[in-house]
Amino acid sequence: MKAVVNFETMKSQQVIVTGGAGYIGSHTVVELIGAGFEPIIVDNFSNSHPRVLDGLERILNRKIQLFDVDCCDESALNGVFESCLKRGNIAGVIHFAAFKAVGESTAEPLKYFSNNIGSTAALLATMHRHGVGSFVFSSSCTIYGQPEQIPVDETAPFLPAESPYGYTKQACERLISDAHSAHAELNVTLLRYFNPIGAHPSGDIGELPLGHPNNLIPFLTQATAGLRDPLTVFGNDYPTPDGTCVRDYIHVIDLARAHVAALNWLKDQNHACEALNLGAGNGSSVLQVIEAFESANGISVPYTIGPRRPGDVTAIYADAKKAKDLLGWECKHSLQEALKDSWNWQKKLEHKS
Ligand code: UFG
Repeated sequence: MKAVVNFETMKSQQVIVTGGAGYIGSHTVVELIGAGFEPIIVDNFSNSHPRVLDGLERILNRKIQLFDVDCCDESALNGVFESCLKRGNIAGVIHFAAFKAVGESTAEPLKYFSNNIGSTAALLATMHRHGVGSFVFSSSCTIYGQPEQIPVDETAPFLPAESPYGYTKQACERLISDAHSAHAELNVTLLRYFNPIGAHPSGDIGELPLGHPNNLIPFLTQATAGLRDPLTVFGNDYPTPDGTCVRDYIHVIDLARAHVAALNWLKDQNHACEALNLGAGNGSSVLQVIEAFESANGISVPYTIGPRRPGDVTAIYADAKKAKDLLGWECKHSLQEALKDSWNWQKKLEHKS
C-alpha cells in the first residue's frame, strides 16, 4: 500500500471514497469538501488518470489524501482503514471503484466479476472489521434492464441483465443487502444512477475516458472538437418520438450532491438499506441531446445515423421522487447547462494536452 500524498488531514468526518479519482468520484470529492467532510481517495488508477488530482487541487486549493490501492486487496484496505482510524472517525464509505464499460464486460466477464464483486465484498468485510456502518454504493439503472414501464421507480424488478457489467451491479446490490441483513451496524444507500454527463464548471475536472469513448457525451465532444470521426447515432428506428433512444441525463454535480445528501441521511438511520434512483426525471433522445448541445454551445455536431448498438435499451428515465422525499435532493442543473460544461471541459482538455 502506498500513500501517494502523505500529510495530516483533518481529524474527523473522514469519508473513504473508492474510485475517487474517477469521473463521478472526483466531483463527489469536491462536494464532500464543500459540506465539511474529509474525503480520503482509494484508487489504483486502473480506469482514471493521476492528472485528476491536479484538477482537484486547483478547484480546492489544497491536496486530498490518496491511497494507491486495489480495492480487491483486503489486506491493503485494512491498512487504509487503520491509518484513517489513527487520525479520527470514519463517517462512511462511498464505493465508486468499478469497471463500467458494457462492451468490454461482454469480452472480459471474469475481469468484471472479480473486480466489481470482489472489491465490494472486500470493502464490506473491512468495514465490518472496523465497525464502520455507513455505506453508499454506486449502482446503476442498468439493473432494471429494459423496463416494462417508464418512468421507472425503485420497485421495478431486476430484469435479466443486458451485460456482465449490469449483472455485477445486480449481484453487488444483492451482496450488500445480504450483508445488511447479517450486520446490524450497516446503513446503506444503493444509488441507481441514470446517465451522468457534464463537468465541473471550472473545466478542471470532468470525464476522462481512457482510449476510445463508449458513452455518448465524450464521443460527441471529441467528434465536435475534430478529434474523432463524426458521431454515429446508434439507430433511428426505435419506437420513440424521433426514432432514437431515450435516456435520463443528469449533471454530474447534481449526482455528486446526492452522495453528500445520502451520507448525511445515513448518519441518522438505524439499520437502513434503501435503493434510490438518481435522475432528472425526464427523458431526452439522442437527437434531442445533439440539438441541445448545438444550441447551448453555438456549434454544430458532426454526426451520421448508423445501425443499432446491440444491448441498448429503447427508453428509460427515472421516477426520482423517493430521493426527493428521503434525502430532500433533486436535480438543479438543466441538460443545456450540463452540455455547456461538457464542452467547456473538452475545450480546456485540448488546451492542456
Ligand atoms: N449513443 C450513440 N452513439 C454513441 C454512443 C452512444 O448514439 O457513440 C447512444 C446510445 O445508443 C444510447 C445513448 O447514446 O441511446 C446513451 O449511451 P451511453 O453509452 O452514453 O449510455 P448508456 O445509456 O448506454 O449506458 C449508461 C452507462 C452504463 C450503464 C447504463 C445504464 O454508460 O454504464 O447507462 O445504467 F450501464
